[in-house]
Amino acid sequence: MEKKQWNRRDLLKSLGVAAAAAPLAASSPANEMSAGRSSIQDLSPYPEKRDRKPGETIKAIVVGAGSRGWGAYSSYGLKYPDELQVVGVAEPIPYRRERMSKAFNIPEKHQFTTWEHVFELPKFADAIIITTPDDLHYGPAMAGLELGYDLLLEKVIAQTWEECNDILRLTEKKGAIVAVCHVLRYNPYFRKMKEVIEAGAIGEVVSVQHLEPVERIHMSHSFVRGNWRNSKKSNPMILSKSCHDTDILRWLINKPSHKVSSFGSLSLFREAMAPEGSTDRCTGGCAVEKDCPYSAIRLYKEQRGWLQHLNLEEVNDETILRELKDGPYGRCVYRCDNDVVDHQVSNFEFEEGITAAFSMEALTHYGGRRTRIFGTEGDLFGDEKTLTITNAITGKQDVWDARKAMKGSSGHGGGDHGLVHDFVRAVDKKDASLLTSTIQVSMESHLMGFQAEASRLEGGKVMEIKLQG
Ligand SMILES: NC(=O)c1ccc[n+]([C@@H]2O[C@H](COP(=O)([O-])OP(=O)(O)OC[C@H]3O[C@@H](n4cnc5c(N)ncnc54)[C@H](O)[C@@H]3O)[C@@H](O)[C@H]2O)c1
Repeated sequence: MEKKQWNRRDLLKSLGVAAAAAPLAASSPANEMSAGRSSIQDLSPYPEKRDRKPGETIKAIVVGAGSRGWGAYSSYGLKYPDELQVVGVAEPIPYRRERMSKAFNIPEKHQFTTWEHVFELPKFADAIIITTPDDLHYGPAMAGLELGYDLLLEKVIAQTWEECNDILRLTEKKGAIVAVCHVLRYNPYFRKMKEVIEAGAIGEVVSVQHLEPVERIHMSHSFVRGNWRNSKKSNPMILSKSCHDTDILRWLINKPSHKVSSFGSLSLFREAMAPEGSTDRCTGGCAVEKDCPYSAIRLYKEQRGWLQHLNLEEVNDETILRELKDGPYGRCVYRCDNDVVDHQVSNFEFEEGITAAFSMEALTHYGGRRTRIFGTEGDLFGDEKTLTITNAITGKQDVWDARKAMKGSSGHGGGDHGLVHDFVRAVDKKDASLLTSTIQVSMESHLMGFQAEASRLEGGKVMEIKLQG
C-alpha cells in the first residue's frame, strides 16, 4: 500500500463532513507533526478495504465455541474462507460443537469436548483461537505455545500477573505470534481518534478523561448473573471489562503509565438491596418481578435480549423458561454470588506528567464510551458516534461521523473482523508487527489493571506500574 505523509491540514480536509467546516489554523510544529501513515481515507472497516491474502489459508482450532469463538471470530472464516479455515473445535456444549463442525466440515477426530484433548494430538493447524472463559485461558495458551501454535487469545490474557508473564515468556521462547483480542484497536472510531492525535490536531496530549458506561442491563447480564460476575472465577471488573479501556488509554497516549490510584465498590447488586417480597429466582413467585428493571422473565423471555450466553439449542418460550428456572440467568440480581464492582474510578499518571481519569460506571441507561482528550492546541470529544475536534485558537470545530465508517460492520464496530484480518496476515507472514495488539504491548495495559485493582483493595493507595520484576 502506498504510504502518504499527511499533516493536520490533510487531516481536517479529510474529516470533511463538518457542518461548519473550520478555517484551518496557522500551522505550528505540532500541527505539522506527520504520522507517516497512509491516508485517513483508508480507515474504513477492514473487510471492505482488505487486500487479498497472499499465501496459504490459515488453519485454526477454536477452543470454546461460544459467543466469541463462533460469532466474533469464526464468522470471519465463513465470510472469507480463502483466509481462515477452522479445522478443529473443543467445546463441551454439544450443539455449539456441532454447529462449528458442520459449518467448517471438521472431521470427527478433530472435534473435542474439552481443550485438553486438542493437545494430546500432534500439531494439526497453524493457530489456536482461545475463546474459553477467563479461567480457561492459561491452560490452552501454555499447551498451544508448547506445541508450536500461534494464538488468537481472548482478553483477559490470564487471571494473574504471574500467569500473564508465563505466557509472554513462552511466546518469546517459541517465537510465536500471540494476538490479544483488544478489538477496539481495530475499530475505525478509535483508529481515527489515534490518527487525529498522531497528526497533532490537538497539539501534545496533556490529559484524558475517559468514561466506560456499561449500561445497567449489560451489567446485570454479564457482571451480576453471568460469566464475569465473580473476580475469582473470572477477573476483577477493571480487567474483565476495562482492560479494553486501560489498553486504549495506553495506546492513545503512547507513553507508559507509572502510577495509579483507584476507588470503587459494589453498591446496588447485593442482598442488602433486595426489595421486600423478592425471591431467589424471578420465576419463584417474586412479588416485585413485574416492576423490577432486571426481571429475567422480561429481559430474556419477553424481549429476547442477551440470549447468546444462555445454553439454548432452540430458542422458544419453553426452553428460555427452563433456563431461567435452573440456570444462572434466572437468578435475582440481588442474590447472586457476584463480587465485581459496579462503579470504579482510576487515576493514572503517565510519563511526562500526562494524566488520565478513567471511570467505569455500570448504572447508566446508555452504553458507548465517552472520551475527552485535552491537548496543548485543542481538544477532542468522542462518544463512539462522532468525534469533535476543537481548535484552541479559533474555537472552530470539525466533526467526524463514526457511524458511517462502522455501518454494517462486524461486532465492536468492525473491530472483531479487523483483528482476525490482521491476525491471519501476521501468522501467514510470521510477522507480529502486522498486529497492533500483540501480547507484548497488551502486558502493559493489563498491568495497569492489575495495579489499579491492587490500589482499590488498599483503599486507593498509589501503586507503581513497573513492567520488570
Ligand atoms: N474481546 C472482547 O471484546 C470480548 C467480549 C466478550 C468476551 N470476551 C472474552 O472472550 C472469552 C469468551 O467469552 P464468550 O462471551 O464467548 O463466552 P461464552 O460462554 O459464550 O463462550 C465460552 C465457551 O467456552 C466453552 N468452554 C467451557 N469450558 C470449556 C473447556 N474446558 N474446553 C473448551 N471449551 C470450553 C463454553 O461452553 C462456551 O461455549 C472470555 O474470556 C471473555 O472474557 C472478549
